[in-house]
Amino acid sequence: MSTTLELTRDAIAAVDTAGQLQDVLSMPDQLRDALWRVESAGLERHDAPGGLVVAGMGGSAIGGALARAALGDRASRAIMITRGYALPAWTTPDTTVLCASYSGNTEETLAAYEAAGALGARRIVSTTGGKLAEAARAEQVPVIPLPGGFQPRAAVAYSLVVALEVAGLCGAGERLHAEVDVAAAHAERLVEEWSPDSGEESLAKELARGLHGTVPQLSGAGLTAPIAYRWKTQINENAKIPAFACDLPELDHNEIAGWEGASELGRFTAVFLDDSDLHPRIRQRIELTRGLIASQGATTYRVDSVGETRTERLISLVLLGDLVSLYLAVLRSVDPSPVDVIDRLKRALAQG
Ligand code: F6R
Repeated sequence: MSTTLELTRDAIAAVDTAGQLQDVLSMPDQLRDALWRVESAGLERHDAPGGLVVAGMGGSAIGGALARAALGDRASRAIMITRGYALPAWTTPDTTVLCASYSGNTEETLAAYEAAGALGARRIVSTTGGKLAEAARAEQVPVIPLPGGFQPRAAVAYSLVVALEVAGLCGAGERLHAEVDVAAAHAERLVEEWSPDSGEESLAKELARGLHGTVPQLSGAGLTAPIAYRWKTQINENAKIPAFACDLPELDHNEIAGWEGASELGRFTAVFLDDSDLHPRIRQRIELTRGLIASQGATTYRVDSVGETRTERLISLVLLGDLVSLYLAVLRSVDPSPVDVIDRLKRALAQG
């Protein structure tokens, strides 16, 4: 679908009533602020031989998944992300449980917080307030306070850094404080490259135009697997369209066969998120899989991470995906921030 709308700041401001664009462009500052907030919370090192569980939902859970990917083989203990009411059966007093909820009122995360307490696990909370902050303060559970005023999903720099720092403090992974700081400066350069002030040929705008009018299928592996999922959820919530994510090499054993019938159902695009550190056979699979999907008539893209360290490369693709999802919302004339249907569902559940 072609559209002549230019992705300028004015065009974006016309639909982005809550100014989410600025939240995304400020990611470098948020990374630094997040480091400072964790430091100011004064958390003590506390060894957790049982590893780390990050309990949260949606925009608050993704930080845990991204942190685990940034650490890669620098994680020395299990780091698990739970998106739901329960905790893994193996959670013990030796486990640290980070309960992450931007609003502090997400019922699944509140239930996980309770479950962690019942199991005697060490709990840490990160939130802006709500019932979670209230409960934590009443029980002397340490709270990392997040700044208000964001959509939870737009506070991704905070959820990433908090999970990374907590992983370092409980011995589940190396401390990446300095790496995050350097990655923030790197992200600043990328913001310039992909912001609305860049030309229409900039990668973020080109991808948004390429995905417009299609159902995007995002794929990643290793470092890029949770980023593919992040792109999917950002496209769902900001652009308000269906999008799907799958991992390589798994998708070569099932999803790839589905492309045969895709053109009968609609227009789909495939985006592969690549990284220089992926297993060489995975990189080979990306090219082979792209070719096979393209032969079914679908448009495909391979997008490379940019940067030296794992954290720089991870943040590069998170930033790019966030911008693509915003630009896509603008091309659809949709306000990226409100997610009325999610709010309606939460309200319905709250009524019992
Ligand atoms: C909204 C968003 C959602 C929320 C999720 C959990 O911007 O991204 O995915 O993150 O509904 O809510 P919180 O983060 O408040 O626990």
